[in-house]
Amino acid sequence: MKGIILAGGRATRLRPLTTITSKQLLPVYDKPMIYYPIETLIKAGITDILIIIAPDYSGHFLNLLGDGKEFGARFSYAVQKEPKGLADAFIIGEDFIGDDNVTMILGDNIFDQDFSKEIKEFKSGAMVFAKQVEDPERFGVVEFDQNMKAISIEEKPDNPKSNYAVVGLYTYDNRIVEYAKNLKPSPRGEIEITDLNNIYLQNGEMKVKIFDTLWEDAGTFDSLLRVSNIMAEKSKSKQ
Ligand code: TTP
Repeated sequence: MKGIILAGGRATRLRPLTTITSKQLLPVYDKPMIYYPIETLIKAGITDILIIIAPDYSGHFLNLLGDGKEFGARFSYAVQKEPKGLADAFIIGEDFIGDDNVTMILGDNIFDQDFSKEIKEFKSGAMVFAKQVEDPERFGVVEFDQNMKAISIEEKPDNPKSNYAVVGLYTYDNRIVEYAKNLKPSPRGEIEITDLNNIYLQNGEMKVKIFDTLWEDAGTFDSLLRVSNIMAEKSKSKQ
């Protein structure tokens, strides 16, 4: 299983904090944001990791993270020139993924969960994780039937069919690369991971795992502050 951290983007919602640096280099309590997705992948047993970054400030990532040895991992880097959408990770990552399966995590998604069991058990198809949230319209939303079988995923729907959001950690078999290469941009001009998820869902090859531990997308002032406070509390309770 290979790992990809998607850490480019424009981070417009965090300006002016992100006018002179990248979102994923901002502090979340006592470490740069990108440490969290790195640690989530490593905890899940994934140590061969491609970090996708935007051209601006790319050198800062190299200075901060190096080749990954200090983390007990191996880091490779790729630059995404334009933020074309989350599904672009699998086109940029084609050579890196090679013949393997791949788990992609968003560079601003913060978890406090050990996903190693699910990742080890993964054989083929796709696997995503969903969590109940108060504002599902901001995310990909899963619709379930009465047996809690996922039947659709909609990207940022105006009228969400449930309050389960698909979070930013996705595992796919090797077909994801070809599927991504055949995507057409959505009306908002991005190639959408939700379209990839729906391919697997329609083929009956998608597992949706529900979890209820910490998950924050640290891309807004409020969520960044909230998750920093949570991590501060956690660190103090350990002392
Ligand atoms: P978003 O938070 O959706 O986008 P953004 O980071 O550009 O922020 P904003 O909406 O405030 O302008 O992106 C989620 C994560 O995915 C984040 O870590 C950035 C990353 N990303 C890319 O690396 N490339 C892309 O093409 C997109 C769309 C996102």
